[in-house]
Amino acid sequence: MEAGKTYLSHYKFEVPEIVFGRGLLSRVGLCARRLGGRKVLLVTDPGVRRAGWADVAIRSLKRADLEVVCFDDVTENPKDVEVARGAEEYRRQGADVIVGLGGGSPMDAAKGIAILAANGGRIQDYEGSDRIHRPLPPIVLCPTTCGTGSDVSQFAIINDTERRCKMTIMSRTVAPDISLTDPDTLRTLPEEYVCSTAFDALSHAVEAFFSVAATSLTDVHAIRAVRLLSASLVPAVRERKDGDLENLARASLHAGMAFSNALLGIVHALAHPIGGLYGVGHGSINAVLLPQVIRYNLSAVTEKLPELAWGLGHRSEGDAFRASEIVQEQVDLLIDRSGAPRSLRRLGVREEDLSLVAQRAVEDTCILTAPREAGPEELQEILVRAF
Ligand SMILES: [Fe+2]
Repeated sequence: MEAGKTYLSHYKFEVPEIVFGRGLLSRVGLCARRLGGRKVLLVTDPGVRRAGWADVAIRSLKRADLEVVCFDDVTENPKDVEVARGAEEYRRQGADVIVGLGGGSPMDAAKGIAILAANGGRIQDYEGSDRIHRPLPPIVLCPTTCGTGSDVSQFAIINDTERRCKMTIMSRTVAPDISLTDPDTLRTLPEEYVCSTAFDALSHAVEAFFSVAATSLTDVHAIRAVRLLSASLVPAVRERKDGDLENLARASLHAGMAFSNALLGIVHALAHPIGGLYGVGHGSINAVLLPQVIRYNLSAVTEKLPELAWGLGHRSEGDAFRASEIVQEQVDLLIDRSGAPRSLRRLGVREEDLSLVAQRAVEDTCILTAPREAGPEELQEILVRAF
């Protein structure tokens, strides 16, 4: 064991088959065919269709002699009703494989549709940990943003429209069979989405790194993601060069592998109820919360700070105090230079809802692996500072 670190003594590390490279979306048909599919339900959204990527996927699927049905009735923060409609379409069409193409919303919707297609019922029946009993149809997930990590993760986040909250579904069965990343898809992503989804990836990496369930394997991926984001986030947002965008796609993948296995923390526990109440973009919420949650966690993660400072591009020579300064300064700099939002108020969050958010966050699965305990009062203090 490395000096100064304490890891779990027993753990597992799971990832899907990973296919990564520019231009590879045009090979998605081969992937779906390899999984034994004949008729594909392609789950995507109108933005991805407009950008032309759904057509690239459809052509590839047809070239592989597969029938394709396109389901693009998915909105940001995917809803229970959309998942139910997608599952109905899957059954009605007699599909036997699912391809999710887009950001976290179409990919999480694809997972939800797969759950209902194989298990029936309502998506609410599967909220929580390991509540899925029947195996899902084969799934290929192709991200077109640089943050969600849904393409490698064991999570699906679906909005309950009645309760106005986000449900976290966690099960190894929702991880896809194949994750296919084509960094070229980031070329058409609007600037604000490059920024917000990159901060989602940074939050995944930092929360996985601080998690009480972190292992040496998840740390390797978390720190690799932080290094890539530290070098490429700002230039990717400002100049949009292919190399930097590719680094963000790579960072998203590494951060996804880290958090799917180490789980998350307070940023996500708070971001889920805020997203459920307001429908605000998940990555933007995370960008606002991350600096405040890092500050809250500092006393509980002292031994890990020098490595995180190194990930952010600066050596602290093992000095934890200097490392804590570096971590806070560098995260603040990334936010300021990229133009990410800095306050919940700017995102449209209402002050009178902060206590409700804090109460809901206590119930969120993500709070369980936070490095420092936080009850409703502590969470509300974090929210007030981020407001
Ligand atoms: Fe996230």
